[in-house]
Amino acid sequence: MLTSLFLLLGMFSLNTARTTLVIEAEQGKEPLIVYYGSREAAPADIATVRASGAKPQRAYPVYDMRVGELAIGNPAYALAVTQSDGAFTLDLAIENASVRRWENGEILEVVSRDKYYPVTVKNCWKSYEKEDLFETWVEITNGGKKDISLRRYYSGVLPIHKGNVHVSTFGGSWGDEARMVTAPLDNGIRLVRNIDGIRNAQSSHSEAMISLDGAPQENSGRVIGAALCWGGNYDLMFSTMAKHNYHWFLAGICPDNAEYHLEPRGTFTTPALAYSFSNEGLSGVSRNFHRWGRKYRLAHGDKERKILLNSWEGVYTRVSEPVLDKMMADWSELGGELFVLDDGWFGGKYKRTPTDCALGDWVVDKEKLPHGIPGLVQSAGRKGLKFGIWIEPEMTNTKSELFEKHPDWVLRPLHHAPIYGRGGTQLILDFTNPEVQDFIFGVVDGLMKQDPGLDYIKWDCNASIGAAGSPRLKYQSHLQAEFWAGFKKTLDRIRAAYPDLTIQTCSSGGGRASWGILPWFDEFWVSDNSDACQRVYMQWTASYFYPAITMASHISAVPNHQTGRVTSMKFRIHVAMSGRLGMEMQPKDMNPEEKELVREALVQYKRIRPVVQFGDIYRLHSPYEDGKFSSLMYCSEQKDKAVFYWFRLDNDRTHHIFPAVPMAGLDPNRNYKVEELVRGSSKPCAFEGKVFSGKFLMEHGLEMPYVHAEGKTEWSSHVLYLQAQ
Ligand code: DGJ
Repeated sequence: MLTSLFLLLGMFSLNTARTTLVIEAEQGKEPLIVYYGSREAAPADIATVRASGAKPQRAYPVYDMRVGELAIGNPAYALAVTQSDGAFTLDLAIENASVRRWENGEILEVVSRDKYYPVTVKNCWKSYEKEDLFETWVEITNGGKKDISLRRYYSGVLPIHKGNVHVSTFGGSWGDEARMVTAPLDNGIRLVRNIDGIRNAQSSHSEAMISLDGAPQENSGRVIGAALCWGGNYDLMFSTMAKHNYHWFLAGICPDNAEYHLEPRGTFTTPALAYSFSNEGLSGVSRNFHRWGRKYRLAHGDKERKILLNSWEGVYTRVSEPVLDKMMADWSELGGELFVLDDGWFGGKYKRTPTDCALGDWVVDKEKLPHGIPGLVQSAGRKGLKFGIWIEPEMTNTKSELFEKHPDWVLRPLHHAPIYGRGGTQLILDFTNPEVQDFIFGVVDGLMKQDPGLDYIKWDCNASIGAAGSPRLKYQSHLQAEFWAGFKKTLDRIRAAYPDLTIQTCSSGGGRASWGILPWFDEFWVSDNSDACQRVYMQWTASYFYPAITMASHISAVPNHQTGRVTSMKFRIHVAMSGRLGMEMQPKDMNPEEKELVREALVQYKRIRPVVQFGDIYRLHSPYEDGKFSSLMYCSEQKDKAVFYWFRLDNDRTHHIFPAVPMAGLDPNRNYKVEELVRGSSKPCAFEGKVFSGKFLMEHGLEMPYVHAEGKTEWSSHVLYLQAQ
């Protein structure tokens, strides 16, 4: 009955477990969004509301004669085309709409054609039923005999009804990635535009949280989260006009300097925009994204990550066989599983000791490592460790044999001087060039052929494309599209050849935390800032869209190398245990108590790893709220296990009483036994070994004591493991 009413009205209702998206697609008209929100609130009433004359919003407004009508000059259009005769307008009408099933949902395709020009636009929506998530993207086809060009080609649009709408976006810089900025939406344009070219998460993230019920809440209220799945330049645009009932949210490739010329019979496919609705607040949206990401977007999202020691902050480029052997022996003794050799191991004619040379010359520096990488892999194996290695394969230096041989392999402005990256010598290889694609594949292939035992690659990227170009391109404005096509082709090839390899994306820290590139990568380095206090903030914001399994989170030395801050070992361990645990320091410099604590941490992390890496996140108290403390937890899907984290962040008052934090995600009808993990020499907390009902823990919570091991209140922290009885 409902379905037939929907069809009569040309309405397509895509349902997920708890949400509904209704698109109206009547022949001869344009696609409209009738409804997006909770499934319970949806079905029958929507059809009735629509039949009573309610006006749905344009699902994909294009640059046509209705742009003005949208609300006098509203720039919220998603597609702008220059026709072969120079005309700027489109006038699209739906030709057909169809739905088909895939294993976990449906795909709706609405094909529209211009009434005069041979241009076809296919809007696609794909539902992920179990994860409550939709992806939308667009395919634009030139059916004519002459080129047309795309001046703007966004992936998707969401009209958001006005009310008390707040938007949170994430931005920062090196060492301070993904700071959250939340503000109510008001008249005008709010634009997040990233034009780095390659490190598209360093200065801003391609994600936003849209809270519909006032200031964002973690565990209540209606929220839409959206992530553009693209590795390059992008726009997230919020446009609000006083005269219109809706805010417009649009996202896609940044069109600035990127006009795309589409040849006859050519099709341009935009990246997907993923979005999810939840009425369980920001954390609800995060859980949907985490489940979807682990299952459909992340490399090996269902495999536990190893606990690793990365050599960078321990020895920087001062690598040598005896030093690395000792580090590996210490790491093995502490219970580690994987050792990763960072920068500094390579170079032929130019030795990589300062970091201003040799990128591209991926031959081992025999003076530092006489037995080469195979020698180290074997040594690691003898100690029961897997071995991983750092590379930065998309880059070169002017001081390198690669650049001397192939000066034309780099991106640069055609006739102006390039801006050099790190060390004043670094340049980016030109992924649009098939020879470069072969070379980059060959870097990984060469290492793997030489040593099939390699388990892990840390893939770094420390430069911006900015305004550089490629001499190979007919249109410089195609650089982003062609560069990323070359990247995808090469990474597909690497993944086909080495499906089991773990690959971390690192980019001067968290510069590539993006669902656009994680399909080829297993995790990202959250930030070069390893200060545990600042990591509480950065890992908090990263967790809005990325699960703990993706977040490389390492115990580092004090004073911290980036901030100089001294925090307790226990605090540093606890913060690192809330992500993918690792270490970033020289074990030989640790005292026996610190070693004992790390040993204990590794034992305990192995126990809680499945809950942390595959569990559901519930953020409880934001560090952004008052800067005093922060708390979050992960719960297993069966709700039989949970890990609770509590971090004190300030030391303003010696005798400050912190409120109990009501927990979330537990089963109210089960009882949970509390076990405090890695408490060092501090006394067991009062709740140790006690049993509490899930109901009590969620309605009241436990008041955390804040004195840590050395008797100081600063950097007090607790990790509680809760197991159902
Ligand atoms: C930048 C990365 O973010 C660091 O972790 C480290 O790998 C250095 N590059 C090495 O040069």
